[in-house]
Amino acid sequence: PRKFFVGGNWKMNGSKKEIEALVDVLKKGITGDAVEVVVGCPSIYLQHTLCLLPSNIALSAQNCYKVAKGAFTGEISPAMIKDLGAPWVILGHSERRNVFGESDQLIADKTAHSLSEGLRVIACIGEKLEEREANKTEEVVLCQMNALKPAIGSNWDKVVIAYEPVWAIGTGKTATPEQAQEVHCILRKWLKEEVSGAVSESTRIIYGGSVTGATAKDLAKQPDIDGFLVGGASLKPEFVDICKAGL
Ligand code: 13P
Repeated sequence: PRKFFVGGNWKMNGSKKEIEALVDVLKKGITGDAVEVVVGCPSIYLQHTLCLLPSNIALSAQNCYKVAKGAFTGEISPAMIKDLGAPWVILGHSERRNVFGESDQLIADKTAHSLSEGLRVIACIGEKLEEREANKTEEVVLCQMNALKPAIGSNWDKVVIAYEPVWAIGTGKTATPEQAQEVHCILRKWLKEEVSGAVSESTRIIYGGSVTGATAKDLAKQPDIDGFLVGGASLKPEFVDICKAGL
């Protein structure tokens, strides 16, 4: 019953020309709406990308601020993203947390405000290598979930959870299907106990971290993996194969 969800996170990549070429490939390869496909593009190219995308691929911003408008030089607001016509925003990505120092509280504030403005949120969580090695994976991801819980409130139907172990991002070290499934299962159990059985059944929990056309199929077979958030491979034709991995 959970529709397979694949997000492409382009990060800080692309040019007008490159985006045109990539969308051309996606348009030809991804037909129909059996899979929910979303691409997260740099804010400066949101308008350009929106004009190119077919109706079965939705647009996402990669970040936003926690208030509607004001003296916040360089930031964009959920209201602006909505106004432009993009339905999604990625929040809490590990690069926002670790390169730009975003806290659980800031990410929660951004999530609450985005949802109140009617945006859908891809909320990212995940442990670092040293946390995994210290057997703290469960503690870390549940702490991140606990910070998000009051911000999401009753809007779980507008949220996709992206589990992205930091050690797997951009490293070529995809989590094994078993490693990913173990954490997804912990997250699903948390949803059941902390939110509700219905939310636990209906919320998509997607995996991110060095997903490729080659690794996607086995990951997609796991019972609690409902899709992917893809970085590097989302800039390549193989993104089409990843989108089809759950079919
Ligand atoms: P890679 O697929 O490049 O490892 O990036 C994953 C990611 O961070 C998606 O948000």
